[in-house]
Amino acid sequence: MLDTPAQDQDSYAEGKILKSVVDGVGIVTFNNPDKRNAMSIEMWEGLGTALIELREDDAVRVVILTGAGDKAFMSGADISQFEKNRHNAQAAEAYNRQSDSQRTLLAEFPKPTISCIRGFCLGGGLQVAMLTDIRFAAEGSQFGIPAAKLGIAYGFEGLRHLVSLVGPSQARLILYTGLRIDSAEALRIGLVDRVIADGKLWDETLEVARTISANAPLAVKAAKITIAQVLKDKDERDMEAIKAIGTACMDSEDFREGRQAFMEKRKPQFKGR
Ligand code: COA
Repeated sequence: MLDTPAQDQDSYAEGKILKSVVDGVGIVTFNNPDKRNAMSIEMWEGLGTALIELREDDAVRVVILTGAGDKAFMSGADISQFEKNRHNAQAAEAYNRQSDSQRTLLAEFPKPTISCIRGFCLGGGLQVAMLTDIRFAAEGSQFGIPAAKLGIAYGFEGLRHLVSLVGPSQARLILYTGLRIDSAEALRIGLVDRVIADGKLWDETLEVARTISANAPLAVKAAKITIAQVLKDKDERDMEAIKAIGTACMDSEDFREGRQAFMEKRKPQFKGR
């Protein structure tokens, strides 16, 4: 189990999704360790609710996603639901629609998101991790997309993120073979951003999250918006959004506070306005 600080937890999907808030950091835990945190439809719905609440909570400035237990971040979709819900193209389309809205919530989440990965991070689990802004992994974690071993097609959005992180050749290698790679290889190809000793993973992830949460929220938001636009095709970029957040930053109380705090050699107290 992750050594998370004592906290009040909200629970969704009969306890299989947990949510808590510590020092401005929202934490969502995939909590189905007996199934290596395989994601059921009910868990997708729970994840959506938890994300909306964290998005609307002004006290939350950054969100960490993690898996319960020491075996997995997420082993992908719950395959035991496939026979009923994903057995052919029509059923698969309906199934994907159910989780698409939650993936969109994550993709468009307005605050920074971090995946804290220990153990298996597979298939749809890797897609969830790729939808977050940053990925930290424990040594000994395993990554893969076994779609070709199951006979399913990994969708456009998942592949777009994979290709943008690791490039087309590594993406092909991962997809064609369906084989797993370890943390060191994942770091080498850019799939994760840091590999951390198992016992330090949670503390280091939380420390980075706290660092982000102590920074000026509008400036962090500006970085998030602008980097997202950089990744889009030129014709689809929303340059107005970049301009608007730039103006909001320069006119903000926080910019004044940042300047003053620097001159007065003290820690700034940012308010997000
Ligand atoms: N969906 C449903 N159940 C899953 C699951 C998934 N994605 N991943 C694991 N489980 C279940 C197993 O069926 C097993 O259940 P049981 O205890 O009732 O037999 C339990 O979780 C433990 O899994 P097990 O395979 O015994 O553990 P392991 O540590 O040896 O291997 C994995 C873990 C994740 C490598 C392996 O379970 C696996 O390959 N899972 C499928 C991954 C996958 O294909 N994901 C893509 C889905 S689109």
